[in-house]
Amino acid sequence: MIDTPRAGQYEVVPADSPLAAPATAAPRPVRTREYLMCPPEHFAVEYAINPWMHPEQPVDTELAVKQWYGLRETLTRLGHTVHVLDPQSSLPDMVYAANGAFVVDGAVYGARFRYQQRRAEAGYHRAWYLANGWSDFHIPEHTNEGEGDFAYLPAVPGMGGVVLAGYGFRTAIGAHAEAQEALARPVVSLHLTDPRFYHLDTALASIDDATVAYYPGAFSAASQRVLRQLFPDALLADEADALAFGLNVVSDNRHVVLNSTATGMIAKLAARGYEPVPVELTELHRGGGSVKCCIAELRR
Ligand code: ARG
Repeated sequence: MIDTPRAGQYEVVPADSPLAAPATAAPRPVRTREYLMCPPEHFAVEYAINPWMHPEQPVDTELAVKQWYGLRETLTRLGHTVHVLDPQSSLPDMVYAANGAFVVDGAVYGARFRYQQRRAEAGYHRAWYLANGWSDFHIPEHTNEGEGDFAYLPAVPGMGGVVLAGYGFRTAIGAHAEAQEALARPVVSLHLTDPRFYHLDTALASIDDATVAYYPGAFSAASQRVLRQLFPDALLADEADALAFGLNVVSDNRHVVLNSTATGMIAKLAARGYEPVPVELTELHRGGGSVKCCIAELRR
């Protein structure tokens, strides 16, 4: 484990700050989402491509499947649509469907996986998009792991739709320019520097149209400054929040679905007026992922 910068210099918004939502605030409007997920029927930890993976430790695939169905059911109960991609027996990480592509306003930027063990996943995602009417599909030349390393904020004040993109472990920086051309949105590059937070979605989440939550210590000093400039009102997470996968979340602008052991983030989100929706996903943590990793958002 490498040393991460102390998060002490950042303040969490106290409940009585003007940034925190008043207790009497009207509920935040829900944005109905469309998601793509892939059940973990063939989930296993057979190789280690991130520091969370320990092939010598057993995995309970049945429990992973049960927890995955719980997540899917939570999303549909909240009113969202979940499409399902068929899992492949030779691809044990395919449950992490966020990595298969990145979609903004109908345009799909395909993935190209960094490690050979996952490379074939990209073709299954591409086939799904093409079979389901997403014809504006861009095949990438550069290595990128889809929504694992890209986040979208549709309405940043003074900027409009903005893509945030991580690099340093998986996605090549050349993919950021390629994504900007494919998706016609400004892409802001952020340098990930802590191997425990190897994908952007382990360290940063868009929690509404214009707000991010992130763990500063996962980023280079310069990227932290970029984030502070763009998002002065961001919800700041600490190392414990990030280690509990408290940033690996999906939000519909009101509900934030997240790992149930991320108790610090649950409290911070509630203090800011969001409704945290905890789910148990312990088995999928063994592969190095949680809620967001399992979900690709389809933006029409
Ligand atoms: N075992 C997978 C890998 O290392 C986990 C991927 C997690 N996905 C994510 N979007 N962070 O590639």
